Amino acid sequence: MSSNSRKRCDLPLPFGWFSVARSGELEVGQVLPRDFCETEFVLWRGEDGLVRALDAYCPHLGAHLGYDSQVVGNDLLCPFHHWQHAGDGRVTTIPYSPKVPPKLARACDRAWPVYEDMGMIFVWWHPHKAAPLWELSPVAEISEEGWTATEYRDWVVDIPVQELTENGADIAHFAALHGTKSPPVPELKIDGYTRYSSVSTRMPTPRGDIDGKITVRAPGPGVSFTRFHGITEMLLMQMHTPIDRSHTLLRHQYFVPSVLDDRKINVTKALIRETWRQLEQDIRIWKHKKYLADPILVKGDGPILAYREFFQRYYA
Ligand code: FES
Ligand SMILES: [Fe+2]
Repeated sequence: MSSNSRKRCDLPLPFGWFSVARSGELEVGQVLPRDFCETEFVLWRGEDGLVRALDAYCPHLGAHLGYDSQVVGNDLLCPFHHWQHAGDGRVTTIPYSPKVPPKLARACDRAWPVYEDMGMIFVWWHPHKAAPLWELSPVAEISEEGWTATEYRDWVVDIPVQELTENGADIAHFAALHGTKSPPVPELKIDGYTRYSSVSTRMPTPRGDIDGKITVRAPGPGVSFTRFHGITEMLLMQMHTPIDRSHTLLRHQYFVPSVLDDRKINVTKALIRETWRQLEQDIRIWKHKKYLADPILVKGDGPILAYREFFQRYYA
C-alpha cells in the first residue's frame, strides 16, 4: 500500500451491513475468501442457493476455509482434516471421530449474518460481533416495479467511510473542485440508524431548466440509495466497505426503470458520467488528504460537523 499506508486517520471502523461480493461472483458450490473491516472471512453458496459467511480460520488447527475447501450440501468442508462447518458456526461432522464435542456442535459467533439482494451480498460486521442492530430491506423500485441493474463500477479509495460519505455535506467543494453549482443544503432526517435527505433543484438541460428532486436513504454507513426524480428516473446504490482504517472499497450500481424514453436514457447516461467525473476528482483529493478532527470551518462550508456527529452512532 506504499506511501498511503502511513497513518493519516485514526477513526475506528464503523459497524453495519457492508457489501462483500456481487451475487454473480458466487455460484452454488463456490467459496470466496474475503478480507474486509480488518477481518478475514469466507463466503460460500450452499446447494439451497443461500450464502453463508464464517470466520476464515478453522477452529481445529487453523486451516484457511477459503482455499481448497469444498461445499458439501449447505456446509463447508475444511481441506485439512475434513471437519464440516454449517453456516451458523456449528461443526456438523468430524469424519474420524464418533461424536462432535458439544461445544463445537452449537451455533456460535464464528458466523456472520448475510443479506443478499439487488445483485449484492452484504455481511453484517461489528467489532464485538454484536447481532445486527437493523435490517436491510428490499427497495420497491427493484422488488416491485421491476427496475433493472445497469452500469456498475468500483474503486479502492484511500479514505475511511466516514470521510467518504461526508462529501455530500461538504457544500463548498462542489463549486471549487467540481465546477458545479453548489447544491442547496439538503433537508436531513434521521430515524434510528437510517439517514434520509432530500433536495429539490432546478437542473439545467439543453432544453431549459427542469425541476428535479434527489432523495437519499442511507440505512447505515455501508450503503446509500440515491433516487433521481424528474429530469430522469434513476437509482444509484452506492456501497462503501471498509478494507482497513484508511482504505475503502467503493461501488456504484445503477438501476433504471425497464421502460425509459430515449431522452431520459440520454440524461441517465450523462448523469452517470457526471457522477464518475466528480468522483474521480474527489478520489484525487482523498488519495493525499489527511483527516482533521478539528477543521477550521467558515460560513458556507455546510453541515460537516453535524454529519460527523450523526456518524458517531456507527462506532461501538
Ligand atoms: S484445520 Fe480444519 S479440520 Fe483440521
Ligand atoms: Fe465530491
